[in-house]
Amino acid sequence: MLQVQQLPSIFLIGPMGAGKTTIGRLLAKHLNRQFIDVDNYIEEQTGADIPWIFEKEGEENFRKREMKAVADISQLSSVVVATGGGVVMRAENRKILAERGLVVYLNADVDVQMKRTAKSKHRPLLQTENPRQVLEELYNIRNPLYKEIADIEIVSGRLYPKKMMLEVIAQIKAQGYFF
Ligand code: S3P
Repeated sequence: MLQVQQLPSIFLIGPMGAGKTTIGRLLAKHLNRQFIDVDNYIEEQTGADIPWIFEKEGEENFRKREMKAVADISQLSSVVVATGGGVVMRAENRKILAERGLVVYLNADVDVQMKRTAKSKHRPLLQTENPRQVLEELYNIRNPLYKEIADIEIVSGRLYPKKMMLEVIAQIKAQGYFF
């Protein structure tokens, strides 16, 4: 029988350009909850933006800051959280996200990711000659990790944001959560 339970925090995961921030904001508004973007949180804590952190401290240190941010934010209850695309690379993050909230995977194919990230100068990993190749490689590595912890998976890029958010809500309800 379907177990009815109170909706916990929602963690949005998925690659760069999947729409985590856009859908997260809409979800938070719909649910009347606080929205937190992990990258923004890191920038506020550090007092510097993501490209600066990557350039001056290196990716490894960014990942340490990201782990701390995930640990902090996961202590809050009933929030909607957009994570960065690389959050699943650390087993500790995957464990925290899986245990402390409902994980929603926005799965976007590489064409969608390319379109949505084309103009962005804010993503250090894509400031290369061949961003498509980077996105393909990252997707091959990360897609199984996103799937490993996803409670809900939604294909991104087919629907307008509002409809996509409502699809997430429908799936949340179908899993027996109330809010
Ligand atoms: C990253 C994704 C970015 C940001 C950083 C690294 C990644 O977040 O955390 O540039 O490793 O995929 P978005 O997924 O919000 O773009």
